Amino acid sequence: ATPSEEQLYRPNFHFTPKKGWMNDPNGLYYKDGVYHLFFQYYPDGNKWGPMHWGHATSKDLVRWEEQPIALYPDDLGYIFSGSAVVDKNNTSGFGDSKNNPVVAIYTYHNPNRAKDGKIDVESQGIAYSLDNSKTWTKYSSNPVLKNPGIRDFRDPKVIWDTKRKQWVMALAAQDRAHFYTSKNLKDWTFQSEFGKELGGHGGVWECPDLFPLKVEGWKEEKWVLIVNINPGGPNKGSAGQYFVGDFDGKTFKIDEHFTKQLQREKAVWLDWGKDNYASVSFDNVPQDKRIIIGWMSNWEYAQEVPTELWRSSTTVAREVSLKKTKDGYILKNVPVTQLKKYQGKPITKKISLKSENRLITKSDINLSKAVIDLDLKKMNAGKYTFSLKNTLGEEVLFGIDNKTKELFIDRSKSGKTDFGKNYATPITKAPLNEIYVNAKMKLVIDKTSIEIFFNDGEKVLTEIFFPNENFSELTLNTNTNGASLEFNAYQINTK
Ligand code: FRU
Repeated sequence: ATPSEEQLYRPNFHFTPKKGWMNDPNGLYYKDGVYHLFFQYYPDGNKWGPMHWGHATSKDLVRWEEQPIALYPDDLGYIFSGSAVVDKNNTSGFGDSKNNPVVAIYTYHNPNRAKDGKIDVESQGIAYSLDNSKTWTKYSSNPVLKNPGIRDFRDPKVIWDTKRKQWVMALAAQDRAHFYTSKNLKDWTFQSEFGKELGGHGGVWECPDLFPLKVEGWKEEKWVLIVNINPGGPNKGSAGQYFVGDFDGKTFKIDEHFTKQLQREKAVWLDWGKDNYASVSFDNVPQDKRIIIGWMSNWEYAQEVPTELWRSSTTVAREVSLKKTKDGYILKNVPVTQLKKYQGKPITKKISLKSENRLITKSDINLSKAVIDLDLKKMNAGKYTFSLKNTLGEEVLFGIDNKTKELFIDRSKSGKTDFGKNYATPITKAPLNEIYVNAKMKLVIDKTSIEIFFNDGEKVLTEIFFPNENFSELTLNTNTNGASLEFNAYQINTK
């Protein structure tokens, strides 16, 4: 019998809606021990449609439980992407000092005005919840931010600016970001814009996120602006880039050190894989941690991937940190520590590499739900190709090429590949600026995805795949001698 879509493709520990279409994560926040994930959702089909906010909750950012739909489209339009904040001082007046409201700030996309060829299609609205997102009330005076005559005007991401005691909204306005401020989440004042001629501009700017972050090992704090763009990613289609600089309450300016980096790299990417889009961060996480989640797909083929019942999943939740190097700033991201709680006892191996090495087989670990920490030593200028494969001969190839100085993922032989534009080719590549003698890679593997965190998350590649049988073996092929590999492989048990 042919295995069902559920058996083959429903991820084991990444969130997917039970049925229907999902895209961007929205309104991420934490309150009273619970993480909330909303998402762009069309419940009545498996392709993009009139947008709702779906909802899921988690106690630990790993196991998610789907909840009833939070926001439905209304007369003002579809509910596009946006954010949510815990209004601790009740600045909005929607709650009281004992019951802090949670306020969602989202985009209204009016399909009728779009049909009429109008420019003012998108505006911003708000809604609040006084029962931890069980029920929502839309503000009666929506929209709170009208369209100023810009067709693409969306995805408000709001944070509380502790220094200036104000709300700050980052908004995507076609080819740049706009910043607005407010005292009450209802009245917004335009402050500045950023990015017209900076960074990647291969497509429209979407889903920005502005937040402060300590620089690792330094006293200073910098502001990071994530900007998602579609298309124009480093390996085609949708992707996320970021900028590092300072924010004075009104204006975001990139740092001098970052300016040089940007001149060299043109755009600085959050993830080099084809499948991490619309990454945005949570509000109100304990200990000021900055946690992000992305949509694990790409607009080039998201609506054609071979699942019927549901489409798309999210990335694992990741904690970001900022590292300053001689070359610039790196926004590192690694899986949240909570994932460790679900890791079983490791299988540990230490081997000297031959041309072909079997690392893991089915009897060791189920490779449809695993975390593997790889530690490569004494590599030379050759190619190190890992293969995640099944008994049908289908495989996802990935690894380090020290000859061309790149990381790569090749899913051209990974099973179902012919459904979408730029899905299987070109091969995904991420440049490295040196030949690595030693390197570490953390792999997070689910039934239909791999997330590669290179050297503690300094470079990340996220991709999905659709084999005709689940992958069950991991090998490493190399064309040079002398290197060694040590690894710890963990089963992930969330059930
Ligand atoms: C990004 C995006 C957002 C928009 C939403 C619509 O993937 O295009 O800009 O708000 O999806 O679903």
